[in-house]
Amino acid sequence: ATSIPADDRVPDMGKRQLMNLLLLGAISLPSAGMLVPYATFFAPPGRKGGSSGTVAKDAIGNDVLADEWLKNHGPGDRTLTQGLKGDPTYLVVENDRTLATFGINAVCTHLGCVVPWNAAENKFICPCHGSQYNNQGRVVRGPAPLSLALAHADVDDGKVVFVPWVETDFRTGEAPWWA
Ligand code: FES
Repeated sequence: ATSIPADDRVPDMGKRQLMNLLLLGAISLPSAGMLVPYATFFAPPGRKGGSSGTVAKDAIGNDVLADEWLKNHGPGDRTLTQGLKGDPTYLVVENDRTLATFGINAVCTHLGCVVPWNAAENKFICPCHGSQYNNQGRVVRGPAPLSLALAHADVDDGKVVFVPWVETDFRTGEAPWWA
């Protein structure tokens, strides 16, 4: 009397499989829907305001420490570091042995050569087509059409941090062409 006829078992198995399918659907559907907020959460926040900066890196890729830098770089020094978006950017030591609050992007505004500093001439002189920039990167001779871009050079926790310069270009009194 306890044995179940084979005919009754088959529909039972079918029911169980259907239940499993429904369960699976109940679990997988919401988790698929969760992918959207998940992706949004992990997406990079992007630049908001002027708070985002990049720590300056020296020639061998180490963070630039302001105190160390000033020990090794005298007044008037302009030395390349790695700046925002990896752009070569001059760190400037003022004559009073402090770090300038601006860095100068070394990419020539003519056709993009990296412009070397010429201490003897007190200018940046581009080797490609002869453009010249004064010691703050303001263009003084073409064919370059524009001055070298600026970045703020802040010191945060001892490290030099470049922050996008979106304010008026203090050298020309004009809006920054690069922002
Ligand atoms: Fe500098 Fe042409 S790229 S002058």
